[in-house]
Amino acid sequence: MRVLFTGTELFPHVKVGGLADVMAALPKALRAQGVDVRVLLPGYPALKRAAVPLEPLVALGDLMGGGEARILLGRCPAGLPIYLLDQPAFFHTDTPYAAAGTLPLGFGALSWAAAHLGRHGDGHGWCPDLVHAHDWPTGLAPAYLALAGAPRPRTALTIHNLAYQGLFPADLLVPLGLPEDCFTPGGVEFYGRIGFLKAGLMYADGLTTVSPTYAQEILGPAGLGLEGVLQHRNGSLRGILNGVDESVWDPARDPHLPRPFDRDHLEARRPGKLDLQRSLGLQEAPEAFLVAVVSRFAGEKGLDLVLEALPWFAGHGIQLAVLGQGEADLEARFLAASRLHPGQVAVHLGYDEALSHRIYGGADALLVPSRHEPCGLTQMYAMRYGAVPLVRATGGLADTVTDATPEALKADRATGFTFLEPDSAALEAALGRALGLFRDHPAAWTALQRRGMAREAGWGPSARAYLAFYEKLLRA
Ligand code: ADP
Ligand code: GLC
Repeated sequence: MRVLFTGTELFPHVKVGGLADVMAALPKALRAQGVDVRVLLPGYPALKRAAVPLEPLVALGDLMGGGEARILLGRCPAGLPIYLLDQPAFFHTDTPYAAAGTLPLGFGALSWAAAHLGRHGDGHGWCPDLVHAHDWPTGLAPAYLALAGAPRPRTALTIHNLAYQGLFPADLLVPLGLPEDCFTPGGVEFYGRIGFLKAGLMYADGLTTVSPTYAQEILGPAGLGLEGVLQHRNGSLRGILNGVDESVWDPARDPHLPRPFDRDHLEARRPGKLDLQRSLGLQEAPEAFLVAVVSRFAGEKGLDLVLEALPWFAGHGIQLAVLGQGEADLEARFLAASRLHPGQVAVHLGYDEALSHRIYGGADALLVPSRHEPCGLTQMYAMRYGAVPLVRATGGLADTVTDATPEALKADRATGFTFLEPDSAALEAALGRALGLFRDHPAAWTALQRRGMAREAGWGPSARAYLAFYEKLLRA
């Protein structure tokens, strides 16, 4: 089976969030299952550098007014074959969503190129049986393919986050090469605008999202306006949980950690905790309860709850380490908090892959208070690294973390702490339970860490679920 993935991020070269991790790890896991997966991405400079030597395969002419476009074929260092849409007018920086003015046309061009590869192949003998688009930027790919008609490959769209829908003015219909008659509620139209994600949801043969619970939630208010469309397509929608790339996320072999460790040598985490406290400017206190956040600063991540709970943190002597960037207001509020509580609250604004590994490997707990979380990867990385997740029970967080209730602790099932209400009181109550276990029941705490580290989280089962899903689409 040949499958063309298309999306806008690829770890470690171009990454904004978890999409990059999935775009790198899932193709690898599917290839291990015998699926011939290739990935089509924008020709960002970092990808052009990573995928050398690049072979020009297809000339597409002027696409969406962005000048001459070509499809190049290369291989990234991890061995994955990648097609790049070489069109510098659209893709001259490595920041996928920054060039607001050209976003719809650039991603329209990418979707169009995916459809072209889907229908005509790469001219060198490779043509996909199925095109698998990821998130709103490639939502038009299934639309272009469906509108072009047979013969065409099957199509799938994965929703990684409904908070980003790609809504653009209706007058882009012609520039995007979309026929007038698809601008209807049954087509690409969404409340008077062109909806890229909506288009994918309408036209893809099959839909997935990244956890079973989120697949249910988005049929209601978490559908953020698209719940009607999703209910209509519910028969074709599946929730398949993301995994962890264990070749990247392994505390026993992680070059970013001061000392490797595994679940039988948890004492070897201690130098990492001290190193983290020291380098972030926190008090070097091995016994302090060190809670961390690694997150994009976006409304849906619920970080305002952490800010509201800060007096409570301070009152209980809890240390907080925050790594993230995003909304200016949140950045300013976290910085102010670190000034108010020196030595106790440390905030590192920016994107820092190495520091993220050191945080998962050094913190006692990782806090993920999301209002919505389609899957969430940070809580899974934290578990692998012995940081106990403390999460709001929503979406993939609910599917991956088992709350340390007395029963779950007794039955040896607990892996973290969860809370339900999206408010700081609920967060504080869960944190209080965590702090109590950490301080007063060290053996139970260690057992919690070990269980999280032992949790099966590789991509194998998910890749098999995607394969079964593809097979079903190809039979239809
Ligand atoms: P989302 O994709 O919604 O941002 P995920 O939990 O799925 O959430 O994935 C986030 C990914 O981005 C993880 O790999 C996490 O380690 C990483 N990450 C987030 N913020 C930062 C940051 N400031 N520095 C380094 N890595 C980060
Ligand atoms: C999105 C979601 C996140 C998910 C990631 C990878 O960015 O916000 O929950 O883990 O995609 O699927």
